[in-house]
Amino acid sequence: MSRQALTELIFPRMVELRRTFHRYPELAFEEERTASVIMEELRRLDIPFEYGGVGGGIVGRITGQDDGPTIALRADMDGLPGDETTGLPFASVNPGKMHACGHDGHMAMLLGAAAMLKQNPPPGHVVLIFQPAEERGAGARVMIQSGALDRVKAIFGGHVMRQFRVGEIMVAHGVITAQSDRFTIRVRGRGGHGARPHEAVDAVVVAGLLIMAVQTLVSREINPFHPSVVTIGQVQAGTAPNVIAEHAVLQGTIRTTQRKVRKQIIEGLNRMAKATGVLHNAVVDVEVAEGYPPVVNTEQEAEIARLAALKVVGQQGLVPLDYPSMGAEDFAYYLEQIPGCYVRFGARREGWENIPLHSPAFDFDEEALKVGAAFFNEVAREAIRVYA
Ligand code: NI
Repeated sequence: MSRQALTELIFPRMVELRRTFHRYPELAFEEERTASVIMEELRRLDIPFEYGGVGGGIVGRITGQDDGPTIALRADMDGLPGDETTGLPFASVNPGKMHACGHDGHMAMLLGAAAMLKQNPPPGHVVLIFQPAEERGAGARVMIQSGALDRVKAIFGGHVMRQFRVGEIMVAHGVITAQSDRFTIRVRGRGGHGARPHEAVDAVVVAGLLIMAVQTLVSREINPFHPSVVTIGQVQAGTAPNVIAEHAVLQGTIRTTQRKVRKQIIEGLNRMAKATGVLHNAVVDVEVAEGYPPVVNTEQEAEIARLAALKVVGQQGLVPLDYPSMGAEDFAYYLEQIPGCYVRFGARREGWENIPLHSPAFDFDEEALKVGAAFFNEVAREAIRVYA
């Protein structure tokens, strides 16, 4: 049976699964019902799996040939907080929760690919990773810690996007998403009378100097070819016009696309904060809350993904990446361990406007399920061929 015929055959089942996931969205680390639907389907397909319990994810295994290489495919399971406004007949029945990021589709695609791979197994092993908590909490790390990547040569994943039309796949190597970190700088001076500054340490003046100083981090210390941003978006200080402020709090965000640049900026921020404090007899602390690292696709695996995408959507369906997204994706953690490639699946129907991910009105064209399942099927085969 041809791949097209097979995807057509499993398409109704993928739609059914997607709608079930969509109707009962669950938040990060609470994916209990979602997991039970996945496990039921894996049992139906006679695919053995391990379940880590609620919030622990599922790892399914398809075995073709004992001495063949092992390739992993990943789907994320969680929904988002928010009330759905799509009006779809299968809209969320869980108040305050919805699949606004298309993860319902990712799970259905991977189960569709699983059916195709099971029916005609490639000469190796395929690990199916159903991961909890992509939106927050880094569920990828839970899967890595529980050994999902053991013996895995490469990993592939993807995301639906309404920026692209159904039938398009975006494949690129290198950096495709940025790291986003938040920081808080706390300045502690000594409060006093506005008329007697010599008796005080003015936290507002220290904060002002620091605000200007950190602007030089990106402009004077970072290679201009490495995209990075430091923004202070919030400043709080003082209680009255004639009182010297004892405290000031600055909060901001750091965006980078390379680990070493991120490290450099955080170190620079700490250095400037400490030095400015010493300079003016204030105590300055910096706290950085780490977000997900950037997704960096490896070159060979991007080529494997490109060949697989070519088989599914043809040359006209391959879209390039103009510049990295500033969004974040915890697939990055897998790519810190092993090579791999993360792609984007076009999900906009002709005539639809571009409703972005995370919108309460987000929906995608279910035809994209065929493209995703066919891609996962092909990319596993292609990778096993390359690694054999
Ligand atoms: Ni997402």
